[in-house]
Amino acid sequence: MPSYVIVGASRGLGYQYLKTLSTNPSNKVIGLVRTPASVQSKVSADNLPSNVHILQGDLTDPSSLNAAAAEASKITSAVDYLIVNGAFLPWETAHLTPLDFIGNEQAFIDELNASMSANVAGVMWSINAFIDLVKKSSVKKVIVVSSGMADTELVGTTGITHSVSYAISKAGANMVVAKYAALYKSEGVVFLALSPGFVQTQAEDPNNVPPEVAAGLDALTKAFRKYEPNFEGPVLPEESVKSQLKVIEGITIKDSGKFLSHLGTTRML
Ligand SMILES: NC(=O)c1ccc[n+]([C@@H]2O[C@H](COP(=O)([O-])OP(=O)(O)OC[C@H]3O[C@@H](n4cnc5c(N)ncnc54)[C@H](OP(=O)(O)O)[C@@H]3O)[C@@H](O)[C@H]2O)c1
Repeated sequence: MPSYVIVGASRGLGYQYLKTLSTNPSNKVIGLVRTPASVQSKVSADNLPSNVHILQGDLTDPSSLNAAAAEASKITSAVDYLIVNGAFLPWETAHLTPLDFIGNEQAFIDELNASMSANVAGVMWSINAFIDLVKKSSVKKVIVVSSGMADTELVGTTGITHSVSYAISKAGANMVVAKYAALYKSEGVVFLALSPGFVQTQAEDPNNVPPEVAAGLDALTKAFRKYEPNFEGPVLPEESVKSQLKVIEGITIKDSGKFLSHLGTTRML
């Protein structure tokens, strides 16, 4: 019975992981969310199968993650796949470049602190909370959902100068993965930082994307074509999770500590 823990599973890619993985009745799928009541209602409304379990857990609250691991141990004796997916995404300031913070330095420090707290420290607290359960598995895979925004080549070719604190925090998360890979190499635990590609997660209904969201996706698509001329644009969560799972299945201890994309390579798109 393969067991999966998804940290940050309330919506977007995290919720898609619950949907996709629960279609196999032999999987045990545990989703950690900040607000279990509302997510449990969504799980019921969507008729997700009974192999989905929702637990409370906040990336910025290590005690909640430790409590979730204790609860998870009552559902499964081992965790085969720990997937740390949730992230702090500061949309309101995503368009600002480093120069835009001149005279507004404290705003940047506050945003950086929030990004690092969830996206770097939160990854560490999640791994620390669940590592004992992961070690009890024969699979032993820990995946941290990263971003192409943390890839220096992509930044250089596309000229994407915004999303500063977010990109810094994802680059930090990649280093967290490298540190844990070094710590646990001898014990056979595989750690991977995995970019999910470019995914439309902002609008639940893909046929009803608000114009301002569509414009943002279009602008990014154009920028990404400087990196990959044939790039077609964002995919839906279902397709990204399918690609991510293929990569997750394929990796071995030789890949531990790497930063790969949904393509299974160091090319981000
Ligand atoms: N979509 C893309 O194109 C794309 C590209 C590159 C990387 N990514 C990465 O993919 C992952 C998922 O992104 P997404 O597009 O699905 O984003 P999303 O739809 O905005 O979902 C973000 C998720 O993170 C959770 N979260 C935020 N802060 C949290 C905290 N402190 N503790 C626990 N959970 C928290 C949210 O929960 P709440 O509902 O409680 O807020 C939500 O479930 C992120 O790591 C993101 O950086 C996405």
